[in-house]
Amino acid sequence: MQDQINTIRDDVLAQVEGVSDLKSLDDIRVAALGKKGQITGLMKQLGGLDPDQRREVGQELNRVKDAVQAAIDARKSDLERAELNRRLEVERVDVSLPPRPEMQGSVHPVSQVMDEIVAIFCEMGFSVAEGPDIEGDWLNFGALNIPDEHPARQEHDTFYLPAQSDDEARPVLRTHTSPVQVRHMLSSQPPIRIIAPGRTYRSDSDMTHTPMFHQVEGLVIDETTHMGHLKGCLRDFVEAFFQVDNVPMRFRPSYFPFTAPSMEIDIGCSFRDGELKIGEGDDWLEILGSGMVHPNVLRNGGIDPDKYQGFAFGMGIDRVAMLKYGIPDLRSFFDSDLRWLRHYGFRALDVPTLYGGLAR
Ligand code: PHE
Repeated sequence: MQDQINTIRDDVLAQVEGVSDLKSLDDIRVAALGKKGQITGLMKQLGGLDPDQRREVGQELNRVKDAVQAAIDARKSDLERAELNRRLEVERVDVSLPPRPEMQGSVHPVSQVMDEIVAIFCEMGFSVAEGPDIEGDWLNFGALNIPDEHPARQEHDTFYLPAQSDDEARPVLRTHTSPVQVRHMLSSQPPIRIIAPGRTYRSDSDMTHTPMFHQVEGLVIDETTHMGHLKGCLRDFVEAFFQVDNVPMRFRPSYFPFTAPSMEIDIGCSFRDGELKIGEGDDWLEILGSGMVHPNVLRNGGIDPDKYQGFAFGMGIDRVAMLKYGIPDLRSFFDSDLRWLRHYGFRALDVPTLYGGLAR
């Protein structure tokens, strides 16, 4: 029996030594020490021996059992450590690697153009003001000198929301950014120099109109602001934005209830071979509405029209984005088409500044 024990011990220890994976190691353990294992089997035979032999062989078997178990445990922790090292090697992440160059996201042309507009006007000393998309009837119309029966109300194709109560007017999705003019006059004192970019809504949809679009409002008020300032300011803007010197500009008399006098501003351009060029040729493109703020609007904003005056303008952001970056269909702006965004989008780190450059 002693020989048998030694043979089994040497055999099992050799197997443990040679094994290279945890699964096989466990198979060896079961074959030696499991319920039907070789060493367990020898233990069971102890009952048939006489008492002296039983104690001696029993002790020997226990030593072998412990030695085998210790060898298995040691081998197991070696294999586990090797496995861990292998995984650490394979799954290693190099945190010093730069980000992947093929970024998925891009900055939408509307956001890019808004940033460009803000950069230009902030350089001139304007600050950015905001108002809500859902606006009261009075702020969207009444305060802007558009009374209840005024035809401009129909022209705006307004989206109305349910009234809060019977004797209140229905709130609207603002049809232009002009209510921000009034909000700002009511909350601050002249001198005022703000722009207010944001979303606007009209029930209209074709190649150049979408129900939601973007405008930027401008408002300048102090004691001596006049039409010359309006023209100079917008000329500087147009030349910085389109990056063309001496852009031909046409100030066309127009009508807005909230400005007097009012003008629409066109810029000179040419369409040749389907390509639009700003600043040359003999076509005109309308890009914004403007005028001297109507005294009624100043009054509604809590500003004394005998002391203060100023100008305002409103420009379609999507429209100038289409012009500047040659995007033919406005509706594509809001399709969330990744291929379109990859083509027309901007890199996130190309933040527009006047000194760093506005366009790509
Ligand atoms: N609110 C006008 C529009 O949406 C634009 C405008 C703004 C005109 C300010 C004059 C002054 O068409």
